[in-house]
Amino acid sequence: MDSALTTDPELLEKVINLAKRRGFVFASAEIYGGFRSTYDYGPLGVNMLRNVKAAWWRTMVQMRVDVVGLDAAILGPPAVWAASGHLETFTDPLVDCRKCKERWREDKIDGVCPNCGSTEFTEARAFNLMFKTQAGPVEGEGATAYLRPETAQGMFTNFNNVLSSTRKKPPFGIAQIGKSFRNEITPQNFVFRTREFEQMEMEFFVAPAEAEQWYRYWIDQRYDWYVDLGIAPDQLRLHEHALEDLSHYSRGTTDVEFAYPWGWDELEGIANRGDYDLTQHSQASGAKLEYFDQGTNERYTPYVIEPAAGATRAMMAFLLAAYHEDVVEGETRTVLRLDWRLAPYQVAVLPLSKKPELEGVSQEVLALLQPHFACDYDVTQSIGRRYRRQDEVGTPWCVTVDFDSLEDRAVTVRDRDSTEQVRVPIAELLASLRARTQ
Ligand code: GAP
Repeated sequence: MDSALTTDPELLEKVINLAKRRGFVFASAEIYGGFRSTYDYGPLGVNMLRNVKAAWWRTMVQMRVDVVGLDAAILGPPAVWAASGHLETFTDPLVDCRKCKERWREDKIDGVCPNCGSTEFTEARAFNLMFKTQAGPVEGEGATAYLRPETAQGMFTNFNNVLSSTRKKPPFGIAQIGKSFRNEITPQNFVFRTREFEQMEMEFFVAPAEAEQWYRYWIDQRYDWYVDLGIAPDQLRLHEHALEDLSHYSRGTTDVEFAYPWGWDELEGIANRGDYDLTQHSQASGAKLEYFDQGTNERYTPYVIEPAAGATRAMMAFLLAAYHEDVVEGETRTVLRLDWRLAPYQVAVLPLSKKPELEGVSQEVLALLQPHFACDYDVTQSIGRRYRRQDEVGTPWCVTVDFDSLEDRAVTVRDRDSTEQVRVPIAELLASLRARTQ
């Protein structure tokens, strides 16, 4: 498979257009003019986003015995966010342009107002990114709640619950997928940076002496995950943060970066959080968040290695990496070369014509495949047009039912990438498609 130029500046617009036109991602509340860089995931987008999350869960939880899952609340009390350091330090530097009055994140604009070109700004002030709200019908101090800006804290506050209910011991991890919210000053680049987004995070608890080794291990694992799902190695790189750039909790952070149309930027961060989180929550809550090792008779606060990915951001990177234009039979086509595990539909069942004779056997093929694959069923337009439509949304295999199928009980399977077509007996179809997923 050739690797597309994901740094092509026009690629972003192309993918945004495709995403809207084919039902991957819509601007939220569009009929009201949209709402502040929020997005809705349409019929194909929701399938793909679920596939990204399922692929992560499979690798990070299902295929391991040392990681368990969690689904914690989005709303949390101020005490959690005071202990985590977010109320104090989860800020970005905010400046106002003195000329046009637009507000910007200082570290993202290189001293020039993107709106009017002015270089005159107010002093930067710390802007907290937390969304504050109230829980319950009575306003006031005790009712204040925050929407979580990361899923991670749920894993720390449930550390004892998970330890006692699962009898896991370090090294072990707790994984979570879910929505997070940040009042970003400048959301940008489609779903790359939004105020509401989805994260896939895992907190891996280890003995302090083993932290460095596990940090390196998870960097490699996470890099490999993207490659395994179809991102070419030359579109990825690892970037280790300098000590002075580390977040308040971190002893070491390495980003997996992707070659976006605007340049190298973060896809996922892997951090060595030390014992910061468990110590902070122990002190603030009074609960002892420690591990007692019966083998050595030692009590210690585990260190945390955290691979923290964005589900929505990863989906965008997979779309950018998959987008190709090539020429088939003298005609340019757009094709999403998505890994079959991520494609919104894995199979499209296409009766050659709308004639009622083909309906029965086509429905039979659909019923055979639906329990095993996400299937589309399309009878509109010419078969060539339908192949192009499926290529454009990344469907790896089209199954065409024609008039011969009535006689020979066989169908044509077409491969998205090679466009090769082979005749397969219906009785062998499921096994034949399964073999292509190996
Ligand atoms: N618990 C650590 C943590 O949250 P982070 O680097 O701030 O670390 C982790 O976030 C990942 O979450 C990022 O690498 C990115 O993929 C995703 N992410 C963070 N902020 C985002 C935003 N505003 N929009 C979309 N994705 C975001």
